[in-house]
Amino acid sequence: MKRPYRIILTGFSGTGKTEVARLVAARLGWTALETDDLIVQRAGKPIPNIFAQDGEEHFRRLERDALADACRRPRTVIGIGGGANISGENRRIMADGGFIVCLEAHPETILQRLRPQLEQDPEARPMLAGPDPLARIRQLKALRAPFYALADYTVHTDGLSPEQVANEVVRAWRQLSAAALAAEGRLAALTAAPTASAIAAPYRPPADATCVVQAASATYPVFLSWGALTDLGRRLAQAGLTGRAFLIADATVHARWGPAAQEALRTAGFRVAVYPVPAGEASKSLDTAAAIYDWLVTQRAERGETIVALGGGMVCDLAGFVAATFARGLPLVHVPTTLLAMVDAAVGGKVAVDHRQAKNLIGAFYQPRLVLADVSVLQTLPPRELTAGWAEVIKHALIMDEELLHLLEGNAEAAQRLDPEVAEQVIGRSVALKAAVVSEDEREETGRRTILNYGHTIGHGLEAAADYAGLLHGEAVAVGMSGAARIAVRLGILASALAQRQDALLARFGLPLRAPGIDVQRMLSAMALDKKVKGGAVRWVLLEDIGRPVIRRDVPPPLVEEVLAELTSAQP
Ligand SMILES: NC(=O)c1ccc[n+]([C@@H]2O[C@H](COP(=O)([O-])OP(=O)(O)OC[C@H]3O[C@@H](n4cnc5c(N)ncnc54)[C@H](O)[C@@H]3O)[C@@H](O)[C@H]2O)c1
Ligand SMILES: [Zn+2]
Repeated sequence: MKRPYRIILTGFSGTGKTEVARLVAARLGWTALETDDLIVQRAGKPIPNIFAQDGEEHFRRLERDALADACRRPRTVIGIGGGANISGENRRIMADGGFIVCLEAHPETILQRLRPQLEQDPEARPMLAGPDPLARIRQLKALRAPFYALADYTVHTDGLSPEQVANEVVRAWRQLSAAALAAEGRLAALTAAPTASAIAAPYRPPADATCVVQAASATYPVFLSWGALTDLGRRLAQAGLTGRAFLIADATVHARWGPAAQEALRTAGFRVAVYPVPAGEASKSLDTAAAIYDWLVTQRAERGETIVALGGGMVCDLAGFVAATFARGLPLVHVPTTLLAMVDAAVGGKVAVDHRQAKNLIGAFYQPRLVLADVSVLQTLPPRELTAGWAEVIKHALIMDEELLHLLEGNAEAAQRLDPEVAEQVIGRSVALKAAVVSEDEREETGRRTILNYGHTIGHGLEAAADYAGLLHGEAVAVGMSGAARIAVRLGILASALAQRQDALLARFGLPLRAPGIDVQRMLSAMALDKKVKGGAVRWVLLEDIGRPVIRRDVPPPLVEEVLAELTSAQP
């Protein structure tokens, strides 16, 4: 019997594959190789970027090719990526002429070994991103354990130095590998899928979700329907949440909808404690967050217990910020009650409080476990708030979805009077668009998420110049979209008929197209400080067509001033 001239090391990240591969290769006079290195070489970018930009599926394809390449090389020790052996085809490639050794370690050992790297660069390990890496390691390890069991030999590495592990691998190769590879039925046994009962089900969002956010750091469902509030407790339970629910509620919203939310939670077995927050943006502060921390401490809130945010964007941002930071992160559930919060603030994981100097200055990315939106609660929303929310819905249609634009044009009145069927359809579709963008670009890194800023450059300028008091956000965005369209038409990139179509729809929804009397100079200086300024020039999101946004840094300042002067003049 002949020993194989290839050793393959599998196992979770942090079990020491890289180092051990190097040591084993040195001992045998072979070459050490990492499939992850081959992938990076070929893709020309780091793995987190491949995940973020091209998706996990694409990464897995690159991984299979890299594995096939590595497994053609003799006298090689190959360390393979932590998830590579899930595919049966990959296991066949590995098993064919290679001695497969799995390096095992307890989750605590793994976390201890990975911690320095996670702290230095959390994004280097996208599969472990999130507030509770130990829980994530346990979960992933449990999922993959049946696959790791498909090896010729296993070394338990806890308490061993890399040298000791390498010795053990070399010993096993010398004494056991020839017999292992000759064993009858080996290839079939290693290639066959583990039995279904051996695989813990990966998290699959319920099939009846309105849409699913699949961001790099988390996957979660959004449930949007007329009357969804009665399902709140059931949805939490379905998402695996248990224990107490800490309901952080906008006081105005709580007076009307709090009892229904509490009842839904209690019926599903949750104990509920409520913290009402005075309505209004002033509550979105570090002071309020600190008061909520005090309350959570007196309640003896523990990790794993859930924060439920009930209210508009103000409460979603505030409660989300508290959830992200208290005890390094509590599970978060958003129950948005304004149209703006449903289609924007509750989906996407941006949480923040305001600083005296700037809105949303202190914040984080922190995804909720689920979002539940009951369209019927919009019936009690002040009409002006509802109207402002439509601006973001129309924005989503303009930048991404002509079909939704048609729906809005064909059902403008029914939508505004909250006809249940129409409202569910158009709001649900708008949320799904936001979810799709966030899934592609969770942290505003690839530029995809930037398109959501359509209308917001001028919009933020208006809000700042009006001291955030005179105009609601959605109203400012409507004026901003009207201004952006004027700019695009004058740059010759947008047909004026489309600009008119946009403005006509905004006007039909009762949104303003101009903001007379606002000081242009104050707007300009506010816009220069706007977050969307990158490398000096303002990045404008403009439309070339419905569903075709472009980002332009070359809008001439005189054109901006001209358009702002028109938007703010007394006469149309
Ligand atoms: N995180 C994000 O991605 C994101 C996106 C957009 C906006 N935001 C933030 O959202 C906030 C604005 O959100 P908003 O417009 O929802 O304002 P809001 O939360 O202040 O709510 C507006 C008003 O409506 C009342 N209200 C809410 N729901 C009600 C209901 N169903 N019935 C009766 N009254 C109701 C509130 O009491 C409040 O007076 C801002 O702080 C903004 O920064 C965040
Ligand atoms: Zn907005």
